[in-house]
Formats: sequence, structure tokens, C-alpha cells
Amino acid sequence: MSGLKMIYSIFAVLGLFLDTVLATAQAYKQLEFSNVGFTGSFTPVQKISDETSSKCTCEPGDREYFSGTNAPLSEYLSVHLRGPLKLSQFGFYVADKFIINDNSSSLGTWDRVAYYNAEKQTADNVTFTTNAGTDSPCLGKALCYAANDGVSKADSSTVLKSDNYISSDEEFSIFSSTECPKSGKNKKCGVYRKGIPAYYGFYGTTKMFLFEFEMPRETKKNSSSFSYYDMPAIWLLNDHIPRTSQYPTNGNCSCWSSGCGEYDIFEVMNGTERDRLYSTFHTFQGIENLNVGIQSYGYIERDTENTMRGGVIFDSNGSTISFISSSLSFDQNLTASSVNGLLYVSDEDQVYNRKLLSVAGSASSSKQSDAFSLLTDGRGLWYYLLTIFTGLAHFIMV
Ligand SMILES: *[C@@H]1O[C@H](CO)[C@@H](O)[C@H](O)[C@H]1NC(C)=O
Ligand SMILES: *[C@@H]1O[C@H](CO)[C@@H](O)[C@H](O)[C@H]1NC(C)=O
Ligand SMILES: *[C@@H]1O[C@H](CO)[C@@H](O)[C@H](O)[C@H]1NC(C)=O
Ligand SMILES: *[C@@H]1O[C@H](CO)[C@@H](O)[C@H](O)[C@H]1NC(C)=O
Ligand SMILES: *[C@@H]1O[C@H](CO)[C@@H](O)[C@H](O)[C@H]1NC(C)=O
Ligand SMILES: *[C@@H]1O[C@H](CO)[C@@H](O)[C@H](O)[C@H]1NC(C)=O
Ligand SMILES: *[C@@H]1O[C@H](CO)[C@@H](O)[C@H](O)[C@H]1NC(C)=O
Repeated sequence: MSGLKMIYSIFAVLGLFLDTVLATAQAYKQLEFSNVGFTGSFTPVQKISDETSSKCTCEPGDREYFSGTNAPLSEYLSVHLRGPLKLSQFGFYVADKFIINDNSSSLGTWDRVAYYNAEKQTADNVTFTTNAGTDSPCLGKALCYAANDGVSKADSSTVLKSDNYISSDEEFSIFSSTECPKSGKNKKCGVYRKGIPAYYGFYGTTKMFLFEFEMPRETKKNSSSFSYYDMPAIWLLNDHIPRTSQYPTNGNCSCWSSGCGEYDIFEVMNGTERDRLYSTFHTFQGIENLNVGIQSYGYIERDTENTMRGGVIFDSNGSTISFISSSLSFDQNLTASSVNGLLYVSDEDQVYNRKLLSVAGSASSSKQSDAFSLLTDGRGLWYYLLTIFTGLAHFIMV
């Protein structure tokens, strides 16, 4: 490493450190990320063998490339929910063009293409699934239709009942009702696990996922049998992941570890901060550690007493925003300005903003250190000095 690179590295690491460590622990109304989307690749699963025996293995296929605004989260996404949680409404919307906080260039309307209403017992373009199928040593439990309680197995697509409360560790997922073609390497849904109900997730570069939900305090006692005690979450996965394996014991059994994409909308990260909902990207956009991902170091407050309404918007300019708003409606059509109206905040401090790094070339195949990949993002020393300055200013102010 040259001397200049070394200096850059030190500043970059220090900047990142201050950015992440000192600016934590603040509540916001909205968690925004900008510059979302990059050119990269992932390896889909091309073969699953001996799935119910101890010899169970999976074979990764050739790299698939993605690029453009919001990539790879511009691909089909499935929706995942973990208790303690109750879902009253879910809506998925698409728009031709929408830019967060810009009414002039956001002339389109948002059209609802999937909707669930617990009270009215309606589910349009929605399939509820859960991991309660056949067990496998390398794949875990298979995806199956969820019964109306969200967590037991059903033989066909079933609408969740209005009192669909699930407790800690319990999960269900949502796909569209568009069926996948047969499993296969060059088929639209890729290779997936035998016997599962295979549906597409929700598609679009410019898209919005809305939820009306409760995340009440867990009433059971904590014990070591829980993995996620009182840690509810709502998140999005590249829909290839749950169709092969959401919780594999072998990383080759899902495209997750090669970076096909996850976005956590509202997630409790640990028992210490169980009333804080964070947003996180698990993609390789400028980072090496996919498990940690690209986190918001601010959070949205979890209301354990009342119903919450909110969701995430992926806009046409590579900005995403996780937000909570009591005035949110689930109408069939929402105008761009009414959606921007939901995002109106009187005080800029109510919005957390993190800019994702620009990535040159294929990040997922590089094996460099964090500091080095920061340097390849095309920014200079000044950027990092500014980051340090901002970090310090933030620290002094709080
Ligand atoms: C689009 O995103 C870029 C990069 O994050 C930002 O600099 C620019 O201001 C955004 N444009 C609009 C119209 O919001
Ligand atoms: C309203 O949304 C529906 C889909 O939900 C769409 O077919 C229709 O064109 C939209 N209407 C307007 C005025 O945008
Ligand atoms: C259901 O959602 C899928 C995925 O986004 C979409 O391709 C399909 O057109 C939708 N179906 C209807 C009837 O709106
Ligand atoms: C995953 O696949 C790679 C490439 O085929 C192989 O080298 C590796 O051993 C596999 N890992 C496991 C845990 O099976
Ligand atoms: C809990 O998660 C938050 C957000 O990631 C983190 O800042 C904090 O250090 C974590 N606390 C513990 C005890 O792990
Ligand atoms: C529940 O217990 C686990 C240890 O088994 C602990 O890590 C976690 O913080 C506890 N959660 C709460 C909310 O106390
Ligand atoms: C966009 O229009 C809505 C509705 O008129 C308004 O509430 C909101 O403040 C506007 N946003 C911006 C950024 O001008």
C-alpha cells in the first residue's frame, strides 16, 4: 500500500468509525438511504441434492449480473414478518416514476397491485406462506402454504384470519399470487425446492410496501429456547432465497450469501434495544460483511401499545425510505403528492440519512479490506475528512 493510500485508509476508517459509533442511538421518524443500486452479481442455486439425507448439498450456478437503480432490490422480493406481531393490512404499490420529497418530478400515481385486509378478510394477489414443510439437514423446513394462523401448514392458499397474532420466533411470508414456471436453471424463478408452493414475489424498481401492524410486548417469559425473544421484524428478501432455503445450514443452498439481496424495513436487532426498529441493507454495495450489512444507525421507535402504519418506498432515483405515519391510507390509487405528504416532517432532524457507497466493478467478487473498498469508490480524501467532521459535529451536538 502506498503512503497516500495508507493515509486515505486511516481517514476512511476513522470517518466510518465516527459515522457509525458516535452517531448512534437517536430516534427518527424516517430512515432514508440514497445512492441505492449498483452493478454486481450473485450465484443462484443450480442444484439441490439428497435434500432429506445427511448428504444433502447444493451447487451454486454461474454468476447472474444485476445493475441499475435500487439493484439488486429492484428484483422480485418476498415479504417476511416475525412476531410478536399482528398484521391488519398489507399493500404493495408500483409507480412509473416517483422521487422522494420532489412533487414536481413525481407526477405519477401509485397503483396498488396487491392487498390484504385482515378485518375484511380480503387478499388480492397475495399468497401467505410459512416454513412448516418437510425438514432437511441442509435446507431446514420447506416453504408451504400458511394456514389462517400464519404458522401452521395448509394444503392450499389461505387468507390469514383477522386475529393473526404470531409470537416471538414465529414467522410467515407473503408472495404474489402469480405462480412460478417449473423449477429450472434458466427459468424465471430459477431452481427451487421440490414440492413447495412457488410464487413470484413483488416486482419493480419504483415500488412501495405498506403495512398496518402491531408489535406488542411478548407475553411469554424469556428463555434460552427463543432465538428472537420479543424481537419482531418486517423484511424483504430476493424471492429466490425462501424458494430454496431461508435458513440453510449450507450457504450454497441460498443466493443470500452471494448477495442477491435483503432489505430490513423494521427490525429489532437485539434484546437490549427491543423497542428500536432499524433498517438494514444486506447487499455488497461497498461493504464486505454481508451479515452486518449497511445499517441505519438511527431507529424508529417501536410502539408496543398501539397500531402502527408505515413501510418502505424505493424511488426512481435510488433513494429508499422506511417510515411510520399514522395518516397512511391503503387506497387503490395514491397520488405522488399525497405520498410525499406522508413524508413531510417539520424538522430535518427527524430523518436519518445514509448514502450508500458507489461501487466500481464487481464488489461481490472482490476480497479486499473494508478500507480498501472504500477507496475504490472514486471519492477523495476530502470526502472522508468531511465525514469525520460531520461525525464529530454530530457527537458534539448530542
Ligand atoms: C438523485 O440521487 C442523487 C444521488 O443520491 C442525488 O445527488 C440527487 O440530488 C437526486 N436527485 C433528486 C431529483 O432527488
Ligand atoms: C388505479 O390503480 C389501478 C391498479 O390498482 C390501475 O389499474 C389504474 O390505472 C389506477 N388508476 C389511475 C387513475 O391511476
Ligand atoms: C401481482 O403481483 C405481481 C408481482 O409484482 C405482478 O407481476 C402481477 O401483475 C400482479 N397481479 C395482478 C393481478 O395485479
Ligand atoms: C459450496 O460450493 C463451492 C463451489 O462449488 C464448493 O467449493 C464449496 O465446498 C461448497 N460449500 C459447501 C459448504 O458445501
Ligand atoms: C443492539 O443493536 C444496535 C443496533 O444495531 C447496536 O447499536 C447495539 O450495540 C446492539 N446492542 C447489543 C448489546 O448488542
Ligand atoms: C432474552 O434472553 C436472552 C438470553 O437467553 C438475552 O440475550 C436477551 O437479551 C433476552 N431478551 C430480553 C428482552 O430480555
Ligand atoms: C408535496 O405535496 C404534498 C401535498 O400537497 C405536501 O404535503 C408536501 O409537503 C409536498 N412536498 C414537497 C417536498 O413539496
